[in-house]
Amino acid sequence: MLAAQSKTAAEMLADADYEFLRRLVYEHSRINLGSDKRALVSARVAKRLRVLKIGSYREYCQMLKSNPGSEETGHLVDVISTNHTHFFREEKHFDWMQTVLLPEWLKSHNEGETFRAWSAASSSGEEPYTLAIVLAEFFGLSGKWTIDATDISTRILDRAGQAIYDAEKLAPVHAELIRRYFQRGTGEFAGKFRVKEQLRQHVRFQQLNLLQPQYPFSQPFHLIFCRNVMIYFDRPTQETLVGKLSEQLEPDGHLLVGHSESLSGIRHSLRQLQPAVYLKSATSSRR
Ligand SMILES: C[S@@+](CC[C@H](N)C(=O)[O-])C[C@H]1O[C@@H](n2cnc3c(N)ncnc32)[C@H](O)[C@@H]1O
Repeated sequence: MLAAQSKTAAEMLADADYEFLRRLVYEHSRINLGSDKRALVSARVAKRLRVLKIGSYREYCQMLKSNPGSEETGHLVDVISTNHTHFFREEKHFDWMQTVLLPEWLKSHNEGETFRAWSAASSSGEEPYTLAIVLAEFFGLSGKWTIDATDISTRILDRAGQAIYDAEKLAPVHAELIRRYFQRGTGEFAGKFRVKEQLRQHVRFQQLNLLQPQYPFSQPFHLIFCRNVMIYFDRPTQETLVGKLSEQLEPDGHLLVGHSESLSGIRHSLRQLQPAVYLKSATSSRR
């Protein structure tokens, strides 16, 4: 039944309209939709047709063409992009932070220096809040650490800022950590949990397109998480992005990518320490 429905939807999205949407999404976000993604695009764009009460894909494309640079392009990218994430995703990264990165960082930095981290495709907040839990466990809630969390999607950032999660989303979080860092909802929020204010205040969310020419940060980071987003970009875009992220790192800073996103095959100046963990060091050389 589902297959039949999406086939019908795909048929309704004409070749020229699919090509137009595919190109627009690429120009705006560098998300590279192959020819096999037409059913997905049809289904996702259908949501926008319902919201805007537009009767056809053709009409929707015409609206986009006659309003270039409109907010709707952002909504389009929003429905197309995949926001899948969860707490303690790719847990090895967080284990490595606790056992290697943070103890070493403490030894080599002045007391009183702030540890700065960036979650560069933060989605609905599970990644930056996991990072916050790990940093709070290490430095304490009143310790000096900050997290910038950014995403292209304002819709998903609104959710991240609310920091309210269904109980089942907390399955990967240890019971003791839930007790320390989450507040149980009551009344209309029964069955939900909210990240406690003392943890939230370390995390600052803002909208950022990783492709934009300039990033708004005043200081470089000790740690950047850019996980499970590069996989949607083509090689030249990945290479440019890794170069830009490297510039945002302190000389001894680390870049973490998703475990399915090796940087092999692209030119960069970082040293790989282990799968999906890269170091910017004075001795790094361009390959
Ligand atoms: C699959 S989620 C990954 C979330 C998290 N990093 C993780 O690994 O669980 C990918 C996120 O990248 C965001 N994204 C896609 N293109 C982007 C771009 N050009 N700039 C910034 N964020 C982007 C999407 O909105 C989405 O929230």
